[in-house]
Amino acid sequence: MQGAPILACTVSRDVQNFEILIDEMEAEFKDGWGDLRISDTLSFLDQPDAALLKVIALALDIEDEPDIETILSIVHKATDLSIAVLLIADELDPLILHQVLQAGAREFLPYPMPEAGLSEAVERLSKADRPPLAAANAVDTTQNAATEASLPSRTTTGCTIFAIQGLAGGVGATNLAVNLAWELATLKGETPRVGLLDMDQQFGSVATYLDLPRKDLIFELMSDIETLDEDVFRQALQTVDGKLSVFTSPTEILPLDLLPPEEMEKLINTAAGMFDYLVIDMPSALVNWTETALRMSDVFFPVIELDLRSAQNALRFVRTLRFEDLPVEKLRFVLNRAPKMTDLSGKSRVKRMAESLDISFGEKLPDGGKAVAESNDHGSPLALRSSKNPLRKEIAKLAKSLHEISAGSAVAGG
Ligand SMILES: Nc1ncnc2c1ncn2[C@@H]1O[C@H](COP(=O)(O)OP(=O)(O)OP(=O)(O)O)[C@@H](O)[C@H]1O
Ligand SMILES: [Mg+2]
Repeated sequence: MQGAPILACTVSRDVQNFEILIDEMEAEFKDGWGDLRISDTLSFLDQPDAALLKVIALALDIEDEPDIETILSIVHKATDLSIAVLLIADELDPLILHQVLQAGAREFLPYPMPEAGLSEAVERLSKADRPPLAAANAVDTTQNAATEASLPSRTTTGCTIFAIQGLAGGVGATNLAVNLAWELATLKGETPRVGLLDMDQQFGSVATYLDLPRKDLIFELMSDIETLDEDVFRQALQTVDGKLSVFTSPTEILPLDLLPPEEMEKLINTAAGMFDYLVIDMPSALVNWTETALRMSDVFFPVIELDLRSAQNALRFVRTLRFEDLPVEKLRFVLNRAPKMTDLSGKSRVKRMAESLDISFGEKLPDGGKAVAESNDHGSPLALRSSKNPLRKEIAKLAKSLHEISAGSAVAGG
C-alpha cells in the first residue's frame, strides 16, 4: 500500500496482470489508491485503515477460480464495511462471475475494460445506493441464476438425465454430448456410472466422435423393443476406456420416428436404470418422442449459435413447446461458439438475442478452434487430446457444476 489517505484499492492476485486497470486507477484516484493481494485482503480489512476505503476494484481472471472462497469472503466483508466492490473480470467463468455478483459486487467491467469504463463505474457507485448486480450485466447473471435453479434433484430412478438437441444442423450438440458425458464419467475423485445414448438414428455421429464401431445389435434392438431388457441393452453398449458406456446409432439409417413414444420411454428407462447420469444426444428434428425425452430428462439443453438461423429456430422451438404446454422450465439454452467476454459487440448481440427470444443462456461455450473437429475426427474426447482447450475447460466446469448441484452439495446461490 502507498501514501494516505487511500480511498480505493485494487484487489488481485497480481495487479501487473491488469495494466490498463493500473492506468485507469491512476487517472481516477491519483495517489489515493493502493493495491492488495487477494491473500492479504481479509486481514487488511480488519485494520482501522480499511474504514477509509470507498471502493475495491476486484480484478480476477481464470486462475483465481480456485480461490473463490476467499474472494467471496472479501466481497462479503467489504460489503459489510460499506465498501463498494467493482468486479473486473478477465474471461472469468460465468458461474464465478455470478457468485461474486451475488455476494454483493455492485458493478462489473470486462477486462480489458472499455474506455473510461472505470471512471463511469466509479461515478455510478458514488451515486445513491443501488441494488447489487449492475444492470448492464443482467443477462449474464440471470442466466446463471436460471441455470442453478433449473436443475432439479435426482429423478426417482437415481439417474439424472441430460438431453442435448441442436436447434440447427452442425451447431455442436453431439460434440457437447460426447464431451459432457466424458467429463462426467471422469470427474476427479468420483466414479459415477455414465451412459451416452445416440438417439439420432439417421446421422448420429457419437460413434465417429468416440471411434466406436456400430454394432448390428443396435439395429436389431431398435427394431424389436419388446424383447428389450437390461441384459440385451448391456450387450448393445460399448465402453470408452472402461469409463463411459455408449449406445451408438445403428449402421443403417432408420426413420427417426421408428419407435413410438412408449417404446422410446422403455429404452430410456432401461438405460436410466443402469447409470447415475444419462446423456442423450437428440436428433435436431422434432420427432414424436421429443416430448417423451423432454419429460424424462432433468435438464434439456437446446444448443444454438449466435446467428439468425439459430435464433429463428429457437423461437419456433420455444413457441411450439409453450403451445403444447410442455415443461419449458427444463430448458437450459446453450450458446455454442459464444463471443469472448472481451467482445463487447458480440456480447450485446447475445443480450439482444436472449431478449428477443425471451430466454436466458444457461451456458456459453467458447469456440475451441480446429482442435475440436480434429479430436472428433480422431475419435477422442477433447480431454484426452487437447485438455487445455478452452471449450474442454468450459465443458469440464459444466460437468462439475451439474454434478455438484445434482449431488446436492452445491454452490452458493444455487
Ligand atoms: N465450440 C466449438 N468450437 C470449435 N468447433 C466446434 C465447436 N462445437 C462444435 N464444433 C465442431 O463443429 C462441427 C459440428 O459439431 P457437431 O457434430 O457436434 O454438431 P451437431 O449439432 O451435433 O451437428 P448435427 O446437426 O450433424 O447433429 C464438428 O466438426 C465439431 O468438431
Ligand atoms: Mg449431432
